[in-house]
Amino acid sequence: MQGRRLATTEEIVAIVSPDSDGVVARLESWTAERDISLSTVAVGDDIDHVYDENRATLGVTIGGDGTFLEGIKTFAPRNVPQIGVNTGTLAFLARVEPEDLEAALDEVIHGRAKVDSRQQVAVRGEEIDATGINDVMIEHVPPENPIDRKITQLDVYADDEYIGEFEGTGLAVSTPTGSTGISLSANGPIHYPVDNHTLQLVPLHTHQLGVRPIVVSPSTELRFVTQGPATLLVDGGRANATLETGEEVLITGAERLAHVVRTSYDDHFFTAISKKLGWGIRDVDEPQRQSATAGRERTTSLSTESIGHEHSHDRVRDPAVGSAAMTDDDSAAVLERAHTIATEAAEAAGEPLRELHGQVETVAVKSNKSDIVTEADHQANRIITTVIDNEFPDHGIVSEEQPRRNGKNGYTWVVDPLDGTGNFAHGNPNYSISIALLENGTPAMGVVYVPETDELFSAIAGVGAWRDGDPIETTDRDRLDESMLISGYDPDGTFLSHFYQESRGVRRLGSAALNLCYLASGSADATWEHDTYPWDIAGGLVIARAAGATITDERGEPFVFDLETDEWTALLGSNGPLHPALLEHLETGLPDYNGDR
Ligand code: IPD
Ligand code: CA
Ligand code: CA
Repeated sequence: MQGRRLATTEEIVAIVSPDSDGVVARLESWTAERDISLSTVAVGDDIDHVYDENRATLGVTIGGDGTFLEGIKTFAPRNVPQIGVNTGTLAFLARVEPEDLEAALDEVIHGRAKVDSRQQVAVRGEEIDATGINDVMIEHVPPENPIDRKITQLDVYADDEYIGEFEGTGLAVSTPTGSTGISLSANGPIHYPVDNHTLQLVPLHTHQLGVRPIVVSPSTELRFVTQGPATLLVDGGRANATLETGEEVLITGAERLAHVVRTSYDDHFFTAISKKLGWGIRDVDEPQRQSATAGRERTTSLSTESIGHEHSHDRVRDPAVGSAAMTDDDSAAVLERAHTIATEAAEAAGEPLRELHGQVETVAVKSNKSDIVTEADHQANRIITTVIDNEFPDHGIVSEEQPRRNGKNGYTWVVDPLDGTGNFAHGNPNYSISIALLENGTPAMGVVYVPETDELFSAIAGVGAWRDGDPIETTDRDRLDESMLISGYDPDGTFLSHFYQESRGVRRLGSAALNLCYLASGSADATWEHDTYPWDIAGGLVIARAAGATITDERGEPFVFDLETDEWTALLGSNGPLHPALLEHLETGLPDYNGDR
């Protein structure tokens, strides 16, 4: 889950341990000041009566790690991200100290927190069906007479392969989160938990010298068959069962991840380990050599850590590399920052789109039967515009799905939160998110994200165009009969019928923004749109131009991007060499357009 997505938090559900009244009172005033609803429930109580799945909810636990684990049981199955305020003693999971409550939550609702999506473990047996964030332990039943045998024997299989017979007091299967618990005390390795979804099987008090911890993927099914009575505990007893001789238990990675919110008010992982477990290879107070922006300093400057998506950061090119040609340093800095923010906003908005794709139930018709909007368009719009607004409150925003907001300083964002809604509503994967920034009316930065393929196209005018961080450019094909064309809106099918015979193929994909990106990255040699709206093309235009495309109107005049126009605007984009041949055919092939919007 993307931390940026939390910028649209509407509701907080807090699970509260006894003696937390002071913290709860502060949470009440913080939420009231920000118009966020708050419901509190006592630890152990159900949240069904206060939880609304249609609202963007943040789970907060106020207590120690026990309360945090109760939170995981409650929030993870509902896909609700959670943050823990520590009013207990030694907490490893609830990592916000009470005095930092307001500042940490401010960071969350500005979308600047990080979300660690943690692997959980699932266990199924005759008497148990449970999920845990830490571990599952299978142990011998303590003998009535303390000097009787304390050993248990378990036959263990990974998928269908027999691993062998484990002998000892039992074993633990832990997640990366749980690797610093029971598993560690049995000499298991510490798992760095970020983006780590493995499980490990660790023998407890074994006398078999050759038996070592085993690491498996979350899809591996571990099967245990008891050779004597045993007990099974999930997360230290949050669920438990007694196993008879010969009973079978299956343990695997849980499908649902637990979404743990981290702010700059948390310690880094190894700092927390140093403090709480006495990790002996660095001084707790030693400055972090590798991290330029450690701890609380990060509240004012974003870093990969505080934004939270290494993958997304990787593919945000560092435009500084190619910025020598830019004369206006301020402009270069704004566009660079805008590029980063647009990337994060698009990826954050991509999440709900992926979740809702293929299950659209309600479609609202706007101007005609093909001009539609869904709840997904609105959700994506809320995320993108909130993220932009948080970072650039003075900039204007024009989005297909909301009234225009004028800016003060020559910068205007142009957003199509879902381009290709028709495809989206019918379960077709060809849809995209398009975000552009205009500088004094000219598209200067563009990001187009394709949620279903996780491809990110982006560009900064005068700097470069990239797909997932790698430079892209148009093809140099000059023969129509070897070219692949894309047709956008083409009301009477003239473009299709004319060029179909002349070219290798004409494709109609259904997302104008994506068409321009395919031209930019060379999987198409040209694209045609009979009529465009500014938000359909603003992002793709920057990307295609920066990748070397030639973009004109239907007569070959340079394409003029005009946010204010009410006229229909045709767009012919090509790799350049093909342009004359395309125009020639367009002039003869296309009827007089009187395009009505
Ligand atoms: C539409 C798509 C489509 C194009 C239409 C657009 P929407 O955008 O880009 O490919 O042909 O003209 O309106 O409505 O799905 O955002
Ligand atoms: Ca569109
Ligand atoms: Ca749209």
